[in-house]
Amino acid sequence: MAELPFTSLLKQLPATVPFVGPEALERRFGRPFRLRLGANESAFGVSPKAQEAMQRALARISWYNDPENYELREALAATCGVPMARITVGAGIDDLLGLAVRAFVAPGTAVVTSLGAYPTFNYHVEGYGGRLHFVPYRNDHNDLEGLAEAAARTGAPLVFLANPDNPTGTWHTAAALQAFLAALPRHCMLVLDEAYCEFAPPEAILPLTVEDPRLIRMRTFSKAHGMAGARVGYALAAPEVVAAFDKIRLHFGVNRVAQAGALASLQDPGFVQGVVQAVAEGRRDYEALARAVGLATLPSATNFVSFDAGSARRAQAILEALLARGVFVRKPSVPPLDCCFRVTVGTPAERRLFAEVLRQVLAELEEGEGR
Ligand SMILES: Cc1ncc(COP(=O)(O)O)c(C=O)c1O
Repeated sequence: MAELPFTSLLKQLPATVPFVGPEALERRFGRPFRLRLGANESAFGVSPKAQEAMQRALARISWYNDPENYELREALAATCGVPMARITVGAGIDDLLGLAVRAFVAPGTAVVTSLGAYPTFNYHVEGYGGRLHFVPYRNDHNDLEGLAEAAARTGAPLVFLANPDNPTGTWHTAAALQAFLAALPRHCMLVLDEAYCEFAPPEAILPLTVEDPRLIRMRTFSKAHGMAGARVGYALAAPEVVAAFDKIRLHFGVNRVAQAGALASLQDPGFVQGVVQAVAEGRRDYEALARAVGLATLPSATNFVSFDAGSARRAQAILEALLARGVFVRKPSVPPLDCCFRVTVGTPAERRLFAEVLRQVLAELEEGEGR
């Protein structure tokens, strides 16, 4: 049979996905997980008002959705205190990352990110033929000086930074972020991924009044709002960037149920505050658990905690033993982060079960090591 006419770019791409989903792992293991704590989903549900709004929207699912996402953008504008012309809505940050890459990256373009940072960004860069330049983490934090230096050295038009960060959970202060933005070359755009911003202390968030045209902030309803499966996020950016995204975005990509749910959740800030408090309590539980079993944790301003197992080998052994016992968690694969495994904050009952299984796993590993 004749070779199919794939583009040369596609032919060169490795067969890869940014994340193997827990469902795929369950199919592989032949049974469902007992605990799903690996994807930083919310354990605290969705606002009842959002749930109601989504149920109502279902009755009109035979209609197309509003391709301008007008009502949601209007509400976001009011909440964030920015004009609507600065807001793009997309099917989660993962979708919006694709827009940023498509807008600024051509085959061969240099792009800068941290080594081991959020992989979906890299997935898009590779998909558009960009060349990734990686800057190692320093002391479990994104190395802002290293990222700015790499951007200048490579002439990259795009740098990625998640703050607070995944997979570490660590963060930089607003002052450090402002200095970073000032240190980036004038031609260089910054994608500031703020997926976890609701969980962060105020001093870790760049003020929304910062209006640098190079800055593209991305936020999501997947984490604190508990709507990961609905796929809604938004970008705050200069009007010319939003206008550019309008030329390439999938206009009907955010379905009407998701739009209605996001709008209602935005109008229920008390619900999100409750989730943020519950998550902070869960992080403290995990920190206490780690101390009790002799592990360290990285400081976290997110809805997960990275446990430091001391070595990559031990972290891998713990991960595999947890998976084998039906506990879905993930771990970074590249140094120096690979000595950690990452655990989403679950409900109190889920945390108790996690603690029990972790203690069993550690005891068995110690036995195996003859200690
Ligand atoms: C840093 C970061 N960015 C983006 C996402 C995905 O966001 P969304 O669900 O809006 O695509 C995640 C989810 O884990 C994340 O950790």
